Amino acid sequence: MTKVILSGCNGKMGQVISRLVETDESVSIVCGLDINTAEKNGYPVVDDLSKFEGKADVIIDFSHPDTLDKLLPYCESTGTALVMATTGLSEGQIERLGKLSEKVAVFRSANMSIGINLLMSLVKKAAQTLEGDFDIEIVEKHHNQKIDAPSGTALMIADGISEALTTKPGYVYDRHAVRKKRSADEIGIHAVRGGTIVGEHEVIFAGNDEIIEIKHTAMSKEIFAVGSIRAAKFISGKNPGMYSMQDMM
Ligand SMILES: NC(=O)c1ccc[n+]([C@@H]2O[C@H](COP(=O)([O-])OP(=O)(O)OC[C@H]3O[C@@H](n4cnc5c(N)ncnc54)[C@H](O)[C@@H]3O)[C@@H](O)[C@H]2O)c1
Repeated sequence: MTKVILSGCNGKMGQVISRLVETDESVSIVCGLDINTAEKNGYPVVDDLSKFEGKADVIIDFSHPDTLDKLLPYCESTGTALVMATTGLSEGQIERLGKLSEKVAVFRSANMSIGINLLMSLVKKAAQTLEGDFDIEIVEKHHNQKIDAPSGTALMIADGISEALTTKPGYVYDRHAVRKKRSADEIGIHAVRGGTIVGEHEVIFAGNDEIIEIKHTAMSKEIFAVGSIRAAKFISGKNPGMYSMQDMM
């Protein structure tokens, strides 16, 4: 049985995970961490992990980048593994996560769905095949409550494409400020926000007289919750290191 501390337990993702765990006998939530300490799910909820006296194998974090300051010292001092799903982390925070992974197992993915990770492999292959002849643009769409833009997933896709190309592209987020033609070695990244869109990511390869579009649509938040629970089971008891969806798949 994998014992989990659920960080951001009272948020949208936290609530989906709580519901799924109720019917999974191989995992249990021993404590929730949230600045909103309402107990909605039959486990204790704290706003600071010093108030939790039990022991967990893994923390699953779907909360806010600020929470990382609370999680890093706790994971380091207790040896608790960490599944980091929160997006919008700063460069400094990503570096600190890397340092933590020298001491405990850390799993990080800006997108916990299996489908998006398959899309990653497909677009890398497409980018290699089409390099030099096709312009690459990424369009992502999310609900109107999302704070960060572009999405962590869009950046993850752009980084994957960049790794696959021999000429490293620059990222262009806004064509409004500069009036000039698009250059060949750039990836345009565009964020659309509205309504209750769960998440769409489309990669467009536009060449002369032909266009290839590879798109993933998330129909519900459950796909991310399922992936994060699988990730928690996967890294529980693993050696220190930085793990990804590619490792798990
Ligand atoms: N990696 C993925 O697959 C994936 C999928 C969906 C969402 N996300 C990310 O997960 C995060 C949460 O998403 P959500 O839709 O559940 O958001 P949400 O706003 O509904 O929930 C966030 C929760 O975190 C709590 N919180 C905020 N600051 C906190 C702090 N400093 N300490 C403790 N708790 C704090 C809030 O009270 C809230 O309950 C976002 O960064 C989102 O982009 C990642």
